[in-house]
Formats: sequence, C-alpha cells, structure tokens
Amino acid sequence: MEGLSKYSDRVLLTREEIDAMVKRLGAEITRDYAGKKLFLICVLKGGFVFMADLVRAIDLPLEVDFIAVSSYGSSTKTSGVVRLLKDIDKPLNDKHVLIVEDIMDSGLTLKYIKSLFEGRSPLSVKIVTAFDKPERRRVDITPDYVGAVIPDEFVVGYGLDYDGKLRNLPELSVLRRDVYEG
Ligand code: IMP
Ligand code: MG
Repeated sequence: MEGLSKYSDRVLLTREEIDAMVKRLGAEITRDYAGKKLFLICVLKGGFVFMADLVRAIDLPLEVDFIAVSSYGSSTKTSGVVRLLKDIDKPLNDKHVLIVEDIMDSGLTLKYIKSLFEGRSPLSVKIVTAFDKPERRRVDITPDYVGAVIPDEFVVGYGLDYDGKLRNLPELSVLRRDVYEG
C-alpha cells in the first residue's frame, strides 16, 4: 500500500478546522501589529506549511526568514538538546519578531530560540504556534498565539513529521502506535 492512510486512523483537526484556525490567528496578528515592522521567522522544517498559510492570512506588509534547528533525531521523544543548523542573516534591531512554530511540546526549542533572538535587541519577540501540548511543558514558556491546544499524543501532518515523513498530510492526525512501536 503506497498511500498515507495506513499511518493514522484518527484525525485530530481537519483541513477545514485548520483553515479556520489560521484565519483567526491571521486576524489577531493583523490587529496587534498594525503600523509595526513585522518580521516572521519560521522554524524549519515543521513550520513551513503553517508559515505559508499564515502569511497569507495577515493583511499587513511583512518580511519573512527561516531558521533551522535540530532537537529530535528520528524518535518521538525529545533529546532536550537544541542545535542551530541555519541562522537568519539580517539584524533585528528595528523589527518586531514573531517566531512561527509548528508545535510546542517540552518548550525547550522555543526557549532556546526566543532567548537567541532577544539577545539581538529587536523591538519585541513573540511566538505563534499552530499546535500546543501544554501538558508536556518542561520549561517556563508560553506562546503568545496558539492555533489549537491538543492532547499529549504524537501527531503528524500539516508540516509535522515522523522520521522526516508525513509532513504532507493535509490534516493533523495521530500517528498509529504500531508505526513507531513496531
Ligand atoms: P519541544 O522543544 O519539545 O517543544 O519540541 C518542539 C519540536 O518537536 C517541534 O518543533 C516539532 O518539530 C517536534 N514535535 C513535538 N511534538 C511533536 C509531535 O507530536 N509530532 C511531530 N513533531 C513533534
Ligand atoms: Mg520535527
């Protein structure tokens, strides 16, 4: 079987629900950043699908860039170690930074990224995450904008991967346990 349906038998959020979620976030960000220099920084790779939708839901002039970090390897549990693989190339001093993340889990990745950017003296640094698993938080960090709070389960699709794959599932789905527990 070549299709993606075998990897999940439970959809958490449909494409339509995600669309409505992104529209709501876009409207909130449009309202909050009116008249400000907005700079969206996407955390690769997981954030790329959300980023592409979100920028088109924001009715303001804005700039984008991308960073890449690694913290997971191929397992479904965090290693707790964050490594910066690709940085941005512009100074941040006259900008309002909004970090765009796919999902917040332990919070370790965002904690690291947020303090990295705060050290470069931008006008502000905030976080928008498509999905949040607050039960799993290990460090004290709260996203400023949240698309949807989800239960403590390993999810795939809408940019989120398992072992580098399944990012192209259009909905957010729970990964079947037998896929990773064998
Ligand atoms: P944190 O540092 O533990 O908050 O992890 C954040 C990163 O872990 C996210 O950017 C994702 O890449 C990855 N991650 C956390 N939970 C999931 C999940 O349920 N599915 C896929 N990736 C996840
Ligand atoms: Mg990932």
